[in-house]
Amino acid sequence: MNTKVTIAGVTFANPVMTASGTFGSGMEYSDFVDLNRLGAVVTKGVANVPWPGNPTPRVAETYGGMLNAIGLQNPGIDVFIERDIPFLKQYDTKIIVNVCGKTVGDYLEVVERLGDEAVDMLEINVSCPNVKEGAIAFGQKADCLYDITSQIKRKAKQPVIMKLSPNVTDIAEMARAAEAAGADALSMINTITGMKIDIYRRKFALANRTGGLSGPAIKPIAVRMVYQASHAVQIPVIGMGGIANGEDAVEFLLAGASAVAVGAMNFVNPYATVEVIEGIENYMRRCGVENVTELIGAVEG
Ligand SMILES: Cc1cc2nc3c(=O)[nH]c(=O)nc-3n(C[C@H](O)[C@H](O)[C@H](O)COP(=O)(O)O)c2cc1C
Repeated sequence: MNTKVTIAGVTFANPVMTASGTFGSGMEYSDFVDLNRLGAVVTKGVANVPWPGNPTPRVAETYGGMLNAIGLQNPGIDVFIERDIPFLKQYDTKIIVNVCGKTVGDYLEVVERLGDEAVDMLEINVSCPNVKEGAIAFGQKADCLYDITSQIKRKAKQPVIMKLSPNVTDIAEMARAAEAAGADALSMINTITGMKIDIYRRKFALANRTGGLSGPAIKPIAVRMVYQASHAVQIPVIGMGGIANGEDAVEFLLAGASAVAVGAMNFVNPYATVEVIEGIENYMRRCGVENVTELIGAVEG
């Protein structure tokens, strides 16, 4: 049985990654999860300087998921290079660094700093709904997405994954814009903008009022978007949104994803990533699938 997948020339032992922002850089999870088992660790978003994030409360539970408005709190690229990359290098897994910024210049600075580091791929977050400037603005207009993608591609030494927002009218149009600008791969979906109100206190559940919805509640939307995007472009798509087990992951692969990431479920079950890998393997055994790549885009009808 072969679980290897290759994306933009990088070969992963299996198609399961961590979704950015739900696994740190793996330090907190390494007591529960053997990081060597994972296809890749995708880090929390890192900016050129430290970001304090949004005021609290900034997470709230919902039916089948959660809202968050963390606001991309991160220690900045200096600390990240000194602390997180050496930690991750100890493991036999691929390292994908998620990059955030408020201006194109911010993104380019981080991409440049990572150029000579032991990083396998870059994931560019142009889709965070929780920061006021930059971030999602680049991911909601096809011409802005094209522009930032092409500028990043000119600077980047590693293959570039553009992480797309579900908060758009036409995901296929956005996918095509990123591909035309030279993106090596796409990932989707980031969280869907939502709101929750505490009816007895008559207050917003989140200080930011709105937040990003993630978890099993968003899975059907994510599967639909992965299907639409992967059929609109030739470059590989990494799918995420509510994956809780191997069956969920297989659904994304059949829809057209070349790999998957596990996000909010890490908070519910710290073993979720490894259980998803085992679940895919069980499915392959049960259904006589020799090579996991046979599943990619294999939905019929
Ligand atoms: C608490 C939290 C923090 C997140 N931080 C980031 C981030 O820093 N960068 C990013 O691109 N996505 C971030 N995301 C989005 C996830 O990577 C993922 O795209 C989304 O949650 C959907 O997957 P899920 O339903 O499996 O969580 C975050 C999500 C959560 C729940």
